[in-house]
Amino acid sequence: MIGPRVQEAALGLAEVPAYVYDLPALDEHVASVRRALGATELYYAVKANPDAELLRVLAGHVDGFEVSSAGEHAHVTGLFPGMPVALGGPGKTDAELRLPHHRLHVESPNELRRLLGTGLEADVLLRLNPDLPVEGAALTMSGPFGMDEAGVAECLPLFGDRVRLRGLHAHLASGLAAPQLLGLAGALLDNAYEEVNLGGGMAVSYATPESRFDWAAYGAGLAGLGRGRRLRIEPGRALTVYCGYYVTKVVDVKRVRGQAYAILLGGTHHLRTPVTKGHDQPLHVLRTGKGGVAGEPVTFVGQLCTPKDLFARNIVTSVGVGDTVVFEMAGAYAWNISHHDFLMHPKPAFHYLRA
Ligand SMILES: Cc1ncc(COP(=O)(O)O)c(C=O)c1O
Repeated sequence: MIGPRVQEAALGLAEVPAYVYDLPALDEHVASVRRALGATELYYAVKANPDAELLRVLAGHVDGFEVSSAGEHAHVTGLFPGMPVALGGPGKTDAELRLPHHRLHVESPNELRRLLGTGLEADVLLRLNPDLPVEGAALTMSGPFGMDEAGVAECLPLFGDRVRLRGLHAHLASGLAAPQLLGLAGALLDNAYEEVNLGGGMAVSYATPESRFDWAAYGAGLAGLGRGRRLRIEPGRALTVYCGYYVTKVVDVKRVRGQAYAILLGGTHHLRTPVTKGHDQPLHVLRTGKGGVAGEPVTFVGQLCTPKDLFARNIVTSVGVGDTVVFEMAGAYAWNISHHDFLMHPKPAFHYLRA
């Protein structure tokens, strides 16, 4: 469902493709997440969407930002001087290891040695890649991320007064529901560390946008597991995905060997999410055009010269040339992960709904 405000904004756009961000909806959503979490600290993973307008709304609710590059670090510290920043990411450069931080997530014993070599002070969480079964995830973050128990053991004797061990960090998977995440949290918290960052990865459903991650159950579960320890999470997608919309228009409708296609202005170089995740991006057709096909399976594609430029397949709908198409759930890993310059189409404008 798209609300009347978003629909009105989409229909009022002078030019498309465009992104529309619903800032009051983001504000309300993050406020409710914050309330559900109680004492657990909430950082936002900036990689999900670094748009400054969104970050300004988030900054009113979160305890800090998780950044994974010097670029994200400069962006966030420039916008919010003094706001706590957790610096993570595999393959940090020496320059990145020198950046000021509230917490630094160290990924390997060698990275810790390079950090010690800077001679600077640092407050470290060791990123653990534990041997835990992760089931039902959209993406598991095992492989090269963080270190195993032997890597952690190698790090422990290296800490001292300047480079201080504060605790553990773990981001195990993307797309897990609250019970699964709590199961992993329970296993991870079976240790002596006083501070643990449990990462992000809260599930969102592109197939059923109205079903939401159970923040109340997660917050209550963490309160039980924490037993007085300092817990932190760093979600990205589940915070911002719902506030973004990609709006475009139909330039052609045709049938090729019986299959109906709607060809849209723009393409997945503006909204790469359905290609990367292999899903149908949820959409709404607003009948501003004419003719076309009625009540049959339609595949929605963009203007790119590649069969991969697929937004959604066989969506049963009516659609004609000139209709407006609104893709929802375009607020995370959407514009910022897209290959904008492919085919040199004009870039979309960005519009912000405000209270
Ligand atoms: C270390 C780390 N933290 C947090 C996140 C955010 O994950 P999500 O957007 O799934 O919540 C990611 C995503 O890749 C990550 O790598």
